[in-house]
Amino acid sequence: MQRVFSGIQPTGVPQLGNYLGAIRNWVALQKDHECIFCLVDMHALTVWRTPETLRQDTFTQTACLIASGINPKSQILYNQSAVSAHARLGWIFNCVVRLGWLNRMTQFKEKAGKDREAHSAGLYIYPSLMAADIHAFHATRVPVGDDQRQHLEIANDIAEKFNHDYEVDFFPTIEALIPPEAARVMSLRDGTKKMSKSDPSAQSRIELTDTADEIALKIRRAKTDAEPLPSEEEGLESRPEARNLVTIYAALSGESMAQVLARFGGSGFGPFKTALADLLVTHIGPVGDETRRLLQAPDHLQAVLRDGAERANVIAEPIVREAERLVGF
Ligand code: ADP
Ligand code: NA
Repeated sequence: MQRVFSGIQPTGVPQLGNYLGAIRNWVALQKDHECIFCLVDMHALTVWRTPETLRQDTFTQTACLIASGINPKSQILYNQSAVSAHARLGWIFNCVVRLGWLNRMTQFKEKAGKDREAHSAGLYIYPSLMAADIHAFHATRVPVGDDQRQHLEIANDIAEKFNHDYEVDFFPTIEALIPPEAARVMSLRDGTKKMSKSDPSAQSRIELTDTADEIALKIRRAKTDAEPLPSEEEGLESRPEARNLVTIYAALSGESMAQVLARFGGSGFGPFKTALADLLVTHIGPVGDETRRLLQAPDHLQAVLRDGAERANVIAEPIVREAERLVGF
C-alpha cells in the first residue's frame, strides 16, 4: 500500500475550497492508501499568531477533518509539533538545501511581498521542513494542489542531494497526487480570486462551521452579474462569478457543469441560488454540526491527537534516527 502524507495548516476554519479541493479527496484516499494527516502547527508558526489562536485553530481543524470523514483510528491524525522527527530532519535538510533553491520559491515571494526582510526565517526555510514532513515517513504520495508543485520538486531535490552526498539510496521519490476533478473554488465576492481562509472578508467564503442561515445569506449575497444563467458552458466565459457558483453546484451534486446548466439555464440567479444554498446546507450542514459537537469535548480531541502522534512517532522515529546516523550524529 502506498503511504500518503498530507499536511494542512491549522489557521482559521476550513472553507469550502479546502473541502472540495482537498479534504474530500483525502477522505476518498483512505480507502486504498495508508494516510498520515498532519496539522502542521510548526508551519503555521512561520507567521505570527497568538498562542490561543494557534491552539484553538488546531482543535477546530482536527474537529473539521474528523467531521468531514477522516478516520483517526484507521489512519493517523496528529499535530506536527508533537513529533520531534519533523524538527530534527528539518534541520538536517536545512543543511542540505541550497540558498539558491530557496530563493527561487515563488510562494515565499508571494507571501513576503516587498518587505522580505521583515519576515521570519521560518517562512523562508518552510520548504525544507515540508520536505522533512514527507520524508520522515518515507511517504511516496502527496495530494497537493497545483500551487504546491514547486514544493514537491524541492522536496525531491533535497532528497536526491542527501542520497548523493551520503552515497545512499535512503529517501524515495515523492509523487504528487493531483486529484482528477478537484474543484477550484473562487471567492464569493470576486470570481477572479480563490476562496481562502486568509481572505479578510468572511463574506467571501463558506466556512465548514457556518450554520444553515449563514450559508443561505452568503449565497444570496454572492456577487453575480445581471444576465440569466446560460444553458451551455460556453456562456460562462468571462463570467467568473456565475461560473464559480455553477462549479460549486456541480462539485457538490456530482453532476457535470452541462447538466447543471441544462436544468437552471435561462433562469435568473434567484432560484439557482436557493437550490445551491439548499445543496450546501445538505452537504456542509452536517459537517458543521458534527464539528461543533466534537469541539465541546476538547479532551477527546486532545486524546485523538496524542494517540495519532504516538503512532506517527513509531513510523518516523527509526527513519529519522537512521538519517541522523547517516550524517554522523
Ligand atoms: P487557504 O488559502 O484557505 O489558507 P491552504 O493554503 O491552507 O488554504 O490550502 C489547504 C488545501 O486546500 C490545499 O490542498 C489547497 O490546494 C486547497 N485549497 C485551498 N483553497 C482552495 C480553493 N479555493 N479551491 C480549491 N482548493 C483549495
Ligand atoms: Na494558507
